Amino acid sequence: WPHYAPLIKSINELKAQRNAVILAHNYMTPEIFHCVADFRGDSLQLAKEAARTDAKVIVQAGVHFMAETSKLLSPNKTVLIPDMRAGCSLASSITPEDVQMLREAYPGVPIVTYVNTSAAVKAECDITCTSSNAVKVVESLGAPRVLCIPDQYLAKWVQSQTKVEVIAWKGACEVHERFTGEELESMRAAEPGLKIIAHPECPPDVIATADFTGSTSGMIQWVKDKRPRKVMLVTECSMASNVAIQTPDVEFIRPCNLCPHMKRISLENIYDSLVNMRHEVTVDPDVALRARRAVERMVNLTN
Ligand code: 13P
Ligand code: SF4
Repeated sequence: WPHYAPLIKSINELKAQRNAVILAHNYMTPEIFHCVADFRGDSLQLAKEAARTDAKVIVQAGVHFMAETSKLLSPNKTVLIPDMRAGCSLASSITPEDVQMLREAYPGVPIVTYVNTSAAVKAECDITCTSSNAVKVVESLGAPRVLCIPDQYLAKWVQSQTKVEVIAWKGACEVHERFTGEELESMRAAEPGLKIIAHPECPPDVIATADFTGSTSGMIQWVKDKRPRKVMLVTECSMASNVAIQTPDVEFIRPCNLCPHMKRISLENIYDSLVNMRHEVTVDPDVALRARRAVERMVNLTN
């Protein structure tokens, strides 16, 4: 991307001046992912990196709940998000009041929240999970029934992997819910030898069609290990561009569903965020105390 070179150079210089690191989610566009990110990964890997880094400033190249999670685990660091509007349809599907209502409706049943929620929602829950550890987290509680919120499809996928009874909420990812099993079956028919791998936020008929289901980093690892001749990543579209650069021998078949929230992050606003030290993500101290407990409980479980 030669036209990006001056901006990339300036961002990398600013990072050094500010003692900043850029944590980039696997859905970032390739010029962010490959040229300015210090750490790349899925939600769990980025949360762990936020807890570990010695930098003074974290620029979250991802969505708002990821920046909040970084702030929870690194309360003394400045956490910046280049665009405050980078939300998530799962995070906006549930409020703290909804969780309180669930507590009353299901007394004594532990509540696991996907990290794709606000800190205020996490504060009302017992433990968080990500797509890479959801089954392990649910089983770690030793309870016969567990509430798994807010993604109805992640909850259904967890249910297919465990004997614990999983009770779901009604949230969905606006990107992954658009895929259908029918669409994938017709892709398979049109592309002999195609391997299909899916994120657990997809509906059950999509997951039933897939050769593998896992977190974004799990999917990347699968492609790197298995080296299929042709593959379709049933997830946000930028990820295929990022992996394709690293696996030139693999052909990627791409239905392109983009996450409008992730796509709010650009090289331009990352630059702006480092120059002007904005937009700072903060969490109310009382909420942070309770939400941190839920996140740390997960991080300690999977260390
Ligand atoms: P991962 O934890 O698998 O990266 O998922 C995060 C996400 O938002 C997927 O849509
Ligand atoms: Fe949220 Fe879906 Fe976008 Fe991930 S892809 S941030 S779950 S809306």
